[in-house]
Amino acid sequence: MKILSVVGARPNFMKIAPLIKAIVKYNRENRASIQHILVHTGQHYDVRMSEAFFQSLNIPDPDINLEIGSGSHAEQIGYTMIAFEKVLLEQQPDWVVVVGDVNATLSCSVVTKKLNIKLCHIEAGLRSGDMSMPEEINRLVTDRLSDLLFTPDAVSSENLRKEGVPEEKIHFVGNIMIDTLEVNKEKCEKLKLETIIKENLVAGSLDGKKIPSDFSYALITLHRPSNVDREEVIIPLINFFLNEVAKENSLIWPIHPRTRNRLIKLGVWDNIIKNPSLIFLEPVGYHEMIRLNMGAKIMLTDSGGLQEECCILGTPCLTLRWNTERPVTLREYGGASVLVGNNIDKIRKEYLQTLTFKRIPYRPDLWDGHTAERIVERLIETDKILKY
Ligand code: UD1
Repeated sequence: MKILSVVGARPNFMKIAPLIKAIVKYNRENRASIQHILVHTGQHYDVRMSEAFFQSLNIPDPDINLEIGSGSHAEQIGYTMIAFEKVLLEQQPDWVVVVGDVNATLSCSVVTKKLNIKLCHIEAGLRSGDMSMPEEINRLVTDRLSDLLFTPDAVSSENLRKEGVPEEKIHFVGNIMIDTLEVNKEKCEKLKLETIIKENLVAGSLDGKKIPSDFSYALITLHRPSNVDREEVIIPLINFFLNEVAKENSLIWPIHPRTRNRLIKLGVWDNIIKNPSLIFLEPVGYHEMIRLNMGAKIMLTDSGGLQEECCILGTPCLTLRWNTERPVTLREYGGASVLVGNNIDKIRKEYLQTLTFKRIPYRPDLWDGHTAERIVERLIETDKILKY
């Protein structure tokens, strides 16, 4: 059996690492010889956004890199499809495995089914209901085409049923990202905050000031087009961070290239990095981000993956979005996160309340560190039945 799996952007790497380990383990324990090919589409290409994750998570180098890089959505998707078709024609895998909801996920799913190859989606069934999110379109198309859909929670399985996906295709297996968290948690705990800041500080940030060794901080990440692409949204958010959050807490912000480029274009970057309470970091590695999360008083983010990690670690989290495809991470379901959108009054109100909250870790069903093993078993079982 030959499996070809695809990664494209940063949030994919922590989802593919456990899958590869589980395939190796299955081969070893069952004297099997499942062949695995890893394709990187190259949507994320900076060392800090990509290569660093391969090294720190022990992911083998990709067998093939399509080197697609940046571009409009149509460019990224179109170029990926053209390049990926050639790969599939040459490799002829039995299965293609895609993860998450990035442009690579969509492009490779379409090509796979056009060539009548079996398709498996890990992290299936997530729905925000918001069609202005590029990721929602990617999720819908990928799930519609998949032969095998692995869901992280019961809500996602239910979403698929409502859309008419046959029951035998849906498998609730848990959250594969938590497999990576469980394996790496101890290593993350040992990292020193001071060292993380020193090694990842953006040039010009904290200029000349001493790096604090132990202090209270809010952790920020922001990259969604709905938050960073429009001036009337990003500027009030920045003002809130600077004038209100930074007054009471230091603020650590590992900044995404999209956001930084945007602030440079708006002509505000040079001024913002001078604020001494705001510690800008380059995109940090996996372990560093988890350590920052573990020590944060509060998280302000628009990332889906961070919402999930906050849930397991118990970090009180304000999600700067109006909707979420991950309701299981919300406070009303036991999680640590609350939706605050990008309305400053709403953010302020929730921020002040949440600051007083304690860490309350919550582990949703099957977020137990063994999702990848379940996936490999089901994939092999299904391969025996599903032939074409
Ligand atoms: C992508 C995913 C999003 C995911 C996010 C995590 C899609 C539609 N979106 O968004 O789901 O949460 O990754 O990071 O697939 N850039 C660099 N270096 C890089 C990568 C990007 O400088 O290594 C810059 C480029 O200027 C690019 C911009 O960041 O134009 C945005 O990158 P892009 O791949 O379009 O999407 P993300 O916003 O990163």
